[in-house]
Amino acid sequence: MEYKPIRTYVKRQGRLTKAQKIAIEVNGKSFLIEFKEELLQEEQLFLTEQPICFEIGFGMGGATHKIAQNNSDTNYIVTDVHQPGIGNLIKLSNADNLTNIKIIPHDALEVLRFMIKDSFLSKVNIFFPDPWHKKRHNKRRLVNNENLNLIISKLVDGGILHIATDWEPYALEIIEAIKTRDNLTLITNNFHERPDCRPETKYESRGMRLGHEVWDILATKG
Ligand SMILES: C[S@@+](CC[C@H](N)C(=O)[O-])C[C@H]1O[C@@H](n2cnc3c(N)ncnc32)[C@H](O)[C@@H]1O
Repeated sequence: MEYKPIRTYVKRQGRLTKAQKIAIEVNGKSFLIEFKEELLQEEQLFLTEQPICFEIGFGMGGATHKIAQNNSDTNYIVTDVHQPGIGNLIKLSNADNLTNIKIIPHDALEVLRFMIKDSFLSKVNIFFPDPWHKKRHNKRRLVNNENLNLIISKLVDGGILHIATDWEPYALEIIEAIKTRDNLTLITNNFHERPDCRPETKYESRGMRLGHEVWDILATKG
């Protein structure tokens, strides 16, 4: 059967700043990995072999940059399709000479499907996936049973899935989906405290100004 993905994002037109454009052109080669329908070989990616965290949808990349900077003992493979964010994350990472981060500017679900080996990732971060509020758009939500199957297959046993959202119905749906599986165990589903491992993200700051609450949902494979 032909594989026809439902896109979980809309490619926003946002213009690149001069600095973002220069970052992509000059430093892109140090950070970008081209999407290909073939498995990534870890040894060609990073200087040091260490646990790998995969992020879906880093937006403008500010939180992602901080996480990679604060955790030099982990390698990061991160994805988004938003060009200004890609330029910004390259700019930030290059300024700090980070060697533990690679960016794949492509749909994360295709990256997982084609490029990531099974049982390869120690952690998957999904911070503020597009909520797709309207009922008729709910099918475009990133976190659903089918995509959870894909994500779980790429995690090592004991690996961690960390999702944050400020949309309560989505949070409850995710918690329910996790609870009904026997291959994922909830660690926490709180909305009171942001864990230290997750810096505040740009999308989150905007929501908080509007009075939104935030759910951090952490689960472990197994
Ligand atoms: C609401 S924004 C949140 C961005 C960032 N995590 C934050 O909290 O500021 C969601 C981001 O996920 C990206 N995204 C959605 N689906 C994606 C997918 N399948 N692959 C890669 N990125 C995706 C969008 O392009 C967008 O930048």
